This record gives sequence, C-alpha cells and structure tokens, in this order.
Amino acid sequence: MTAGLHLPTRMRRTRATGWSRALHGETVLTPADLIWPLFITAGDVEEPIATLPGVSRWPVKDIVKRAKEARDLGIPCVALFPNTPRELRTDDGREALNPDNLMCRATKAIKDAVPDIGVLTDVALDPYTAHGHDGLIDTKGYVLNDATVEVLVGQSLNQAHAGADIIAPSDMMDGRIGAIRMALEEAMLPNVQIMSYAAKYASAFYGPFRDAVGASGLLQGDKKTYQMDPANAEEALREVALDLEEGADSVMVKPGLPYLDIIVRVKQTFEVPVFAYQVSGEYAMIEAAVAAGVGDRDKLVLETLLAFKRAGCSGVLTYHARHAAKLLNG
Ligand code: PBG
Repeated sequence: MTAGLHLPTRMRRTRATGWSRALHGETVLTPADLIWPLFITAGDVEEPIATLPGVSRWPVKDIVKRAKEARDLGIPCVALFPNTPRELRTDDGREALNPDNLMCRATKAIKDAVPDIGVLTDVALDPYTAHGHDGLIDTKGYVLNDATVEVLVGQSLNQAHAGADIIAPSDMMDGRIGAIRMALEEAMLPNVQIMSYAAKYASAFYGPFRDAVGASGLLQGDKKTYQMDPANAEEALREVALDLEEGADSVMVKPGLPYLDIIVRVKQTFEVPVFAYQVSGEYAMIEAAVAAGVGDRDKLVLETLLAFKRAGCSGVLTYHARHAAKLLNG
C-alpha cells in the first residue's frame, strides 16, 4: 500500500458513480433539441437513398406520417426538401414559385394533419434549377446575386402562404434576409420566422444530400462563389452580424461537427439562438463507421449531438433525429 498522493482535488471523485455523473452533467440533450430533415418525392412509394442508408424520400401522404411520428417522439420541427421531377427543373427555377409544388403540398398536408409541429422550409433554387445551382446564372455560369434574391423572396412568400413556420434560406446570396423579412412584413406574415443558414461553407460533406434532391448529376462547377471558404472564421461572424441586422430570428452553422469552433464563436459573440446542421456527409460517415464495425451507432449519434449542445446550440438538424429521439425517450 502506497502512502497516496494527498491530493486536495481529485477530478475522478465526481465521476465515480452513475448518480454523481448524472448530477454533474453540464449539458442535456432532449428530443426538443432536434429538427428532422425529410425528403419529399413526387412518386407514390418510398424511395430509399443509396448514399444515405436509412433515409428515404417520402410521398406527401407518408411525409404526414413522419411528421406525426416526430410529434409523438417530442421532436418539435421537421425540415422539408423536395426532389423536384426532372421535367420541372428549368434554368430560372420557376417551379419554386408554384403554389402547388411538392414543397407547398407537403407543408399544407402537414399543417392540416399535425398543426402542432413546426415546419421549416429551405429557400434556395437548387432543387428547381436545371443547372443545380442555388440561384440564377449568367452566360458564364456565375450565380447572380440581386436577380436571385428577387426569386428567393417569391419562393419564401410562396412557402409562407402554404403554412411554413420557419423560412430557412440556404442560398448564401447577399441581402436576402432583409428582402425576405420586408416581404413577410408587407404580406402581413409577421410571425413567420427566418432561420438563416448564415455561415454555410462550400463543403465536401453535402454529396449525399445532392443525390437525395436529385441535383448531383446536374450541378455544373462548384458553389465557391457564394458558399464560404472553409478557411474562414472571421468572415462567418460578419455573415451572422449581417443576417441578424437584416432580421433573422436564429442563425445556422453548416456543416456541423467540422465547424464546432464557428458555433462557439457565433454563440459567444452574438448571444442569439444558434443551430447546427449535421449534414448528409456527416450522417453517412457515422453509418459507414457502423457498417464497418468500428463504432456503435447509438453512442456515436448521441455523442455527436451532445457536442452541438455543449458548443452552445439551441438545436440540431440531423437525419438521425428520429433514432436519437427514440434513444432519449428510452
Ligand atoms: C441547398 C442545400 C444543401 C444542403 C441544405 N440545403 C446543399 C448544398 O448547398 O449544396 C445540404 C444538406 C446536407 O448535406 O445534408 N441549398
């Protein structure tokens, strides 16, 4: 028996038992922290997405079932993404303005059947353009800012009239938050929220999403002239500052885990609601790790989601939302 170190402080003391670990937990993850992204198909059967194992596109009637499931699990909000039929994709993305498009039909169906769940709709033209970009392009393929913002305003009003609770612009055009906010005020829709994808990076982690919305085969070039350079952090703070001035209610950082430092800086600088999008490539990496036998799905999912809460997030968009909520509900 050694004499012992006579330490005044032993960090392991509070970790020694389960009850004590529970008592000293600094961060809590609950189903109420989750937003579940759902893909919609114009077809009438479920379409599994090969690059996102476990995730499917759902016909509108099944989207309503998913929304009910989410509500019953305590998930407060779903995020919708349409896979627009190829023949409706045009250079000007005009299907985004159709009051009867897939997004609007799904939004109305959910708000009719499950009025007490929040519906977040993505604003950007990539599910509607023949070239796969988030905006309108000129003859050289450059995405035009101001002309795109005009269309995005129309798209936002279209979604808000269909019943969207949160408009989430993911396009990264300059000035779009202010333009959308003013249009919502003028349309007497003052309580429609805007969650801005404020710091959205030109990332290699979006691949499976582009498959899911049918944009991967179409996209010409990359999105570096509008999405952010992964090297930059100060620029993210400027983006967030602008979106808040322009009237965003909350801001998002995207992707998630590789950008936890950005989440922390945004939260500490602005003290506003911050959300993270754990994107398709992050989901696929976890699923690939599980399939390769190198990790436990339940633990990987809960640990990564808890990390977002610890970094300061109010909530997380994650394709694992349903699974995580089931685990958390025990
Ligand atoms: C579209 C949009 C993208 C994502 C959300 N909205 C893709 C992109 O910008 O190319 C990515 C989400 C994911 O990868 O899960 N503007």
